[in-house]
Amino acid sequence: MPTFKLDGKDIPFEPGESIIRAAQKAGIEIPHYCWHPGLTAPANCRMCLVEIKPAANQRALMLDIVEWDAELGDYRNVQKPKLQPACQFPATEGQEVLSESSKHVKQARSAVQELLLLNHPVDCPICDQAGECKLQDYWLEHQKTQKRMRDEPIHKPKAVVFGPTIVYDAERCIVCTRCVRVSEELAKDPVLSVRERGNLNEIVVAPGRQLDHPYTLMTEYVCPVGALTSIDFRFKARVWFLRSTRSVCVGCATGCNSFSDFDPRNQKVYRYRPRENLAVNKFWMCDDGMLDHRRIHEGRVLEARVSGTRTALPSALAAAAEILSGAKPESTAIVLSAEHSQEDNFALLSLAKAFGFSGVYQSGRPAGQGDDILRHPDKNPNTTGIAALGKAAGLKTFVEFVEAIRAGKAQTVIALGAATPTGGGAAALSDVQNLIAISTHEGAFPERARVVLPASSWAEADGTFVNAKGMAQESEKVITPQGSSKPAFRLIAELSAAAGKPLSWKKLADLRAGMAPPARSSVAPESAPLGAE
Ligand code: SF4
Ligand code: SF4
Ligand code: FES
Repeated sequence: MPTFKLDGKDIPFEPGESIIRAAQKAGIEIPHYCWHPGLTAPANCRMCLVEIKPAANQRALMLDIVEWDAELGDYRNVQKPKLQPACQFPATEGQEVLSESSKHVKQARSAVQELLLLNHPVDCPICDQAGECKLQDYWLEHQKTQKRMRDEPIHKPKAVVFGPTIVYDAERCIVCTRCVRVSEELAKDPVLSVRERGNLNEIVVAPGRQLDHPYTLMTEYVCPVGALTSIDFRFKARVWFLRSTRSVCVGCATGCNSFSDFDPRNQKVYRYRPRENLAVNKFWMCDDGMLDHRRIHEGRVLEARVSGTRTALPSALAAAAEILSGAKPESTAIVLSAEHSQEDNFALLSLAKAFGFSGVYQSGRPAGQGDDILRHPDKNPNTTGIAALGKAAGLKTFVEFVEAIRAGKAQTVIALGAATPTGGGAAALSDVQNLIAISTHEGAFPERARVVLPASSWAEADGTFVNAKGMAQESEKVITPQGSSKPAFRLIAELSAAAGKPLSWKKLADLRAGMAPPARSSVAPESAPLGAE
């Protein structure tokens, strides 16, 4: 791989890659506002300027400037090298780039910072971006001086509602145009643009429109300052109290990689952020996925129920074990869930095997809207996974499950998940005599179940999900199980043991060891730990 030198260090690069991206991949940050690895580079903020040494056969491009000479007590004519934007300049073999080690670069960064802050309200105490704001970080790293301008700053519109998800503060905006480019280049909906010139610049929504495409939260996510805030997150939490885990979005079969940001003090998940994975979601997530963290805390089944009455989990397990012990294999159905992880589904299949139940069916959430950007019409995260897991057991469809109920072949049902893919299917569940639902959320299954066992959600347990491309991806546990819930694979093991047939594994690691590829192992996603952009 070719290399160039950055402050004396060899940096490898792919042909055509910019200096800033190659440096970022090598773990070195060149400060930047307007550049984002997933967008075009307009080079308008000038924060990433670097000094590029001329090659042996080239002449340096120099600029004539005047510089204050304290000893002389006057200005004098000097020259300085013309600096170049690292975000637009391609890396070339043997090139020598100075960033931190150039005094000209340091002066330029400090000047850009001062310019950007001239009219900025510096309302950090009430700004949601505080704690993860590039203006704050770079002021400390590259400026550290008081503001010299004594004039009244320019005032611009504040708290402008751009659409159902986003609020804009023009005074905080540094007009980097990242949000404009997200709308144009990612969402393919050029609904944002820049109006006016100079310090009157501001971002506006196209006349007659709202910012309402399916990727609006990516405009807020890429905003390097607090100019765009998400209505979902603003004023809810201070980011320095939040911790993050690596998760996988369960909003659809794409399986976008994400960070789950949660407050360990109240065990609440406040937001998702995209996690870079070039093979799956690149740098992005859709609005549905970004807002899906709400489901961790809404509409949940948090307590066990027997015949509609809340009960302690051990009593519910005992009631379910009684049903299970009396179940006849020819009239019992097992329903796997495409909403649940491989581990949960594998556990249910193990139970089916232990009791000799051969009627194995699948369920999940109904299909929805997709697009050719990220969103998949299958709104379940693990359809491909259960297809692989259930192949040997002759996994049947939900329609066949409804037919089995009508034919009396599903008088006892043990079902994972809450939702059914069709409304008609939900009605058929009323004909099941003994339904045991192991559910994270309220829905058709727990509503009609004799015994409901509260399962922990995807955020409360480690789990593997196989996306539509067949990539098995692990999602880490974020918070402790809510209410009386337990991970579904644990509930299933306890149920099987209570009915007299303990499963062969005790720990998650043992269960995973029993899961044959490709249900688990398969493709290791490329996931660079570069943090937020
Ligand atoms: S709103 Fe944010 S992302 Fe958009 S131009 Fe302003 S600073 Fe950049
Ligand atoms: S595209 Fe699917 S997996 Fe990706 S963020 Fe949206 S809902 Fe989640
Ligand atoms: S990052 Fe803005 S000019 Fe390069």
